[in-house]
Amino acid sequence: MSRTPKRDAPRNVILVGATSGIARPLGRRLVARGWNLVVTGRDAARLAPLADDLRVRGSGTVATLVFDPSDGAAVAGLFGAAAALLGAPLDGIIICHGTLPDESGALLDVGQTRDAIDTGFTSAAMVLAAAARALEDRPGAFLAAISSVAGDRGRQSNYTYGAAKAGLTAYLSGLRNRLHPRGVAVITVKPGIVRTPMTEGLAAARSPLATDADTVARDIERAILRRQDVLYTPWFWWPVMTVIGAIPEAIFKRLKL
Ligand SMILES: NC(=O)c1ccc[n+]([C@@H]2O[C@H](COP(=O)([O-])OP(=O)(O)OC[C@H]3O[C@@H](n4cnc5c(N)ncnc54)[C@H](OP(=O)(O)O)[C@@H]3O)[C@@H](O)[C@H]2O)c1
Repeated sequence: MSRTPKRDAPRNVILVGATSGIARPLGRRLVARGWNLVVTGRDAARLAPLADDLRVRGSGTVATLVFDPSDGAAVAGLFGAAAALLGAPLDGIIICHGTLPDESGALLDVGQTRDAIDTGFTSAAMVLAAAARALEDRPGAFLAAISSVAGDRGRQSNYTYGAAKAGLTAYLSGLRNRLHPRGVAVITVKPGIVRTPMTEGLAAARSPLATDADTVARDIERAILRRQDVLYTPWFWWPVMTVIGAIPEAIFKRLKL
């Protein structure tokens, strides 16, 4: 007797920053479940081959949308545009775009600081605001965004990036509190160090704590299916950050982290 793989009901989901190293394996996992995706990125030439690859791996619809998450008008129109592409209302969104400023050398200047906060926090919060308004009356819907363990405590090596992620983590926490009574899940993803284009060439990517993107994608998929509130991925970052968070500031300020 042949066995048909068990599939959940098709979901209509927007994957923002679909070209990112973490989103790529995540997209492949979601289409393999039969989900319909609107994949977004700022560059049509990078999106097209990605969508072609996803289409051969799944039975659902994969639509592309050129989208810049820092463009307020585009963000306001995101859910309308995505629903038109799929011909159906959306059930969820996963926000994966981001940048990592180089904070290892000279202090960031004013413009670099604004860029880091704009991309890491403001653009993600704007997309979440649009998503919350679009999905608040859809019980069972979900909003997921990739924050970072870097947002748990400011460190000299990445405090601007960490501050943007701390803001995003707080925004997600409040939004979860707000949308929980409406049956809408809000999922905060906190990866540690992941080997992707973002960390290519960095010493951190060669650390034993670094992980591949597929492991993180698997954890994110599972967290979405379980409607988990906060995900540390891999899991060991939860005890690591608990210890780091417990170090008294008088000692912490002397450490080279
Ligand atoms: N890698 C890690 O160690 C790590 C750890 C913790 C958290 N994270 C977070 O996980 C997410 C994905 O990271 P990743 O490592 O997969 O990244 P990645 O491979 O470097 O990809 C980042 C994506 O973000 C988009 N992007 C770049 N600059 C942007 C800008 N100024 N405005 C809007 N979009 C921009 C790009 O897409 P387009 O150019 O196609 O638009 C790019 O594909 C990010 O939020 C990152 O902060 C990563």
